[in-house]
Amino acid sequence: MDMAQRETWTSRVGFIFAAVGSAVGLGNIWSFPFQTASNGGAAFLVVYLLAVFLIGFPTMLIEFVIGRRSKQNAVSAFSELGYGNWTFAGVIGVFASFITLSFYSVVGGWVLNYIVGSVTGGYLGDASTFFGSVSSGTVAVAAHAVFMAITIAIVAGGVADGIERATKFMIPAILVLLAGLAVWGSTLSGASAGYAYYLSPDFGVIATNFTSIVPSAMGQAFFTLSLGFGVMVAYASYLGRDDSLPGDSAIIVVLNTIVALLAGFAVFPILAATDALTGSTGAGTAFVALAGAFGQLPAGRIIGFVFFVVLLFAALSSSISLLEAPASYVVDSYDTERWKVAVGVGVVAFLLGIVPAYGYVGLFNDFVFNILLPIAVLFIALFAGWIYGGEAVDELGRGTSLGRGAMTAWLWWVRVVVPIVVAYTLWLGVTNFYA
Ligand code: PFF
Ligand code: NA
Repeated sequence: MDMAQRETWTSRVGFIFAAVGSAVGLGNIWSFPFQTASNGGAAFLVVYLLAVFLIGFPTMLIEFVIGRRSKQNAVSAFSELGYGNWTFAGVIGVFASFITLSFYSVVGGWVLNYIVGSVTGGYLGDASTFFGSVSSGTVAVAAHAVFMAITIAIVAGGVADGIERATKFMIPAILVLLAGLAVWGSTLSGASAGYAYYLSPDFGVIATNFTSIVPSAMGQAFFTLSLGFGVMVAYASYLGRDDSLPGDSAIIVVLNTIVALLAGFAVFPILAATDALTGSTGAGTAFVALAGAFGQLPAGRIIGFVFFVVLLFAALSSSISLLEAPASYVVDSYDTERWKVAVGVGVVAFLLGIVPAYGYVGLFNDFVFNILLPIAVLFIALFAGWIYGGEAVDELGRGTSLGRGAMTAWLWWVRVVVPIVVAYTLWLGVTNFYA
């Protein structure tokens, strides 16, 4: 993971697992059900899936193309390929990583508290009261400090390999646990009401709430796929020349989508069974629903413990890539020792995170989703489409069997459709954010 070294991944599978490790995280299991629940259920789901496949997938190809071609971190890559004029596009991504790390670590702290709660049985009584007691205030700040300290230790110590290896076990474990919870959820009374809210779109809702659904869905799509942060640029910079980028992207996007959809299948029947579907759909949605479920399951504390430990690994394999992005930028630009930089950047992100830890996770989340990510992706797409253009197509062509026609279609999609859609999203997002 050291950005200064130009190694390549030992295998195609190693790269895919690292990228999946960055993608699959709290965004799938915490943010996705929460965004879906608070934005009208299936109406949101439809727009989200369109955003993932029509905008997210082609954008992931851009980041992979730029990373593999430049063999550099995002800031240096944009700087060099853009002849010094596009450095800012990489810097926005680094800034987004830093802001995201500050509140991601707070939610990571919630996970730590739920691991403790599984041991003590703390959330078995009243799941919402427990959430209230750990999600903000000093308890939340303390857990946020621990989560950030673990993230810093991993990045500073360069033991990221260990996390990468853990990812190989984590993804199957998450799939199995979520699938098990989903099956159990299907037996609950009210499951069908949950499925209806989750899966059968009311197109009237899309029409009425269009201006809030679109920015949330697009933001969620970029966030969940780790796009707009420059992280995928950096990961692809270690790639050998002969992988199929569209093939790799398809695997990453599909796996990430399966984890999110499964989380929804676990959470919505539980929300319906506890009459919480249309109730308060705040940032605590998934935590309260899942902990409530563990409270009712036989051996629920053990299942809960395993679940939250796996979620912790998923969160860590994402948070290390969030810290790595700003840290490697500082290391490359100022020639400082990486452990000092990891500690410095991590501590500043921790201090900033004290604000969301006092009840402002939603605000930080909205700022990143509605504003930072669309700005970052807009510039990335404009750069790849109009400045980099033909070379991007050449790079995309290496190692794939895609025809010239498909690649040209991608280029025009990136030149025209992605910027227009994302600019529109940004306009809606800014209007909502300041409303
Ligand atoms: N994709 C991660 C998730 O869904 O939890 C969040 C994330 C991790 C975004 C790393 C960006 C990033 F660089
Ligand atoms: Na994700």
